[in-house]
Amino acid sequence: MQPHYRFAGFLGKRVHLGVTGSIAAYKALDLLRSLQEAGCLVSATLTDGAAEFVRPLSFEALGASPVYGSMFEGSPSGSAFGHLEPGQAAHAMVIAPATAATIARLAFGLADDMLSCQALAFPGPKIVAPAMNPRMWEAPATRRNWEMLGELGYIRVRPWSGHVACGDTGEGRLAPVEEIFASVLRALAPQDLAGRKVLVTLGPTREPWDAVRFWSNPSSGLMGACLAMAAHLRGADVTVVAGPTVLTFPEAVRVVPVTTARQMFEVATDLWPSMDVACCTAAVADFRPVPFGETKFKKASGAGQGITVEFTPNPDILRTLGEAKRDGQRLIGFAAETGDLKAEAGRKLQSKRLDIIAANDISKAGSGFASATNEMYVLDAAGRRETWPQLDKTEVAWRLWDHLLLD
Ligand code: CTP
Repeated sequence: MQPHYRFAGFLGKRVHLGVTGSIAAYKALDLLRSLQEAGCLVSATLTDGAAEFVRPLSFEALGASPVYGSMFEGSPSGSAFGHLEPGQAAHAMVIAPATAATIARLAFGLADDMLSCQALAFPGPKIVAPAMNPRMWEAPATRRNWEMLGELGYIRVRPWSGHVACGDTGEGRLAPVEEIFASVLRALAPQDLAGRKVLVTLGPTREPWDAVRFWSNPSSGLMGACLAMAAHLRGADVTVVAGPTVLTFPEAVRVVPVTTARQMFEVATDLWPSMDVACCTAAVADFRPVPFGETKFKKASGAGQGITVEFTPNPDILRTLGEAKRDGQRLIGFAAETGDLKAEAGRKLQSKRLDIIAANDISKAGSGFASATNEMYVLDAAGRRETWPQLDKTEVAWRLWDHLLLD
């Protein structure tokens, strides 16, 4: 699980996990672990088909409780109403992997096994993630049933393309566990950013000098990724403008990859008029080298006397967005400092026309570049100032959106 998916604030949320008879059933164990790490309590139902691929004991050993099996085995609690219990206890239900047969049962309300009864009796959000052979997935009956699930309000995580177990290639692989996990967290999270269009800049920029060398910085993009994820989970429509990073996002998050500061500037300033909020976390190179040229600089050219590289300024993206900000738009900036944190944060809040600035001292351990945590000083245009202890970046991100929603 990538670090920007590791939200731990879902304590007390209950998720019911349905597993059906697919070779991908073992991946449900990963989903179980991920949900538990997010703080969720997880119960599970394995169909008879699922139990052929992976043992109920594996789910029990990892802490799923209770674990239901066949319809007439009844409830592990001894009650005769196991088919109704998840609907009474859980906040969300996820069926992953879901076979063609289970999708058909769900579409038609055919309650002929424990899992399909539980789904029919489940009043909360239901997420379904299929896995099957590509020809089964493309069969008209499956397509129709899949459409019906959409009409019935199921949250659908479509299968991905690639090699499947039988050797075929095509659409039918279970979506990555991260994708399914994010759909479950989104179903559990408050949708208090629903309807807002959020722009996040993140990562470093790379400023080329010759054919093989560039000027950059060690930003991993993690803080911005956590903000983008938190906004997505809370219902926002998120667009990420990303400098070079290895981070990936759920399919519903739009990602525009860029390399240089000027490319990031073009994309961010084009998008800004259509956005409600922008959050600039990118570590943009303030200066770019005057290029040596398209070819590779050869060592021999500088041997003996060394070389001097000239730099020219890059545009300030955040400042430009601040200048173009219209009524109702909100702008969040970051400040990476090694000196007087509070004074610099105050100066940047004012001069870049920000609503909130989150500043951190990058010389401190556990704060800043490539760290999983951050220690923030947060200042807003209403004059509120807060110092937050060292927190996971996912937690910092969640709190920053809370802060934005204060007014
Ligand atoms: N920023 C930006 N475009 C730039 C430089 C910075 O959008 N060319 C944004 C960053 O994403 C961050 C904020 O401005 O949200 C502050 O960045 P920081 O590097 O701390 O400050 P600078 O304004 O570059 O000033 P200095 O380097 O002098 O501290």
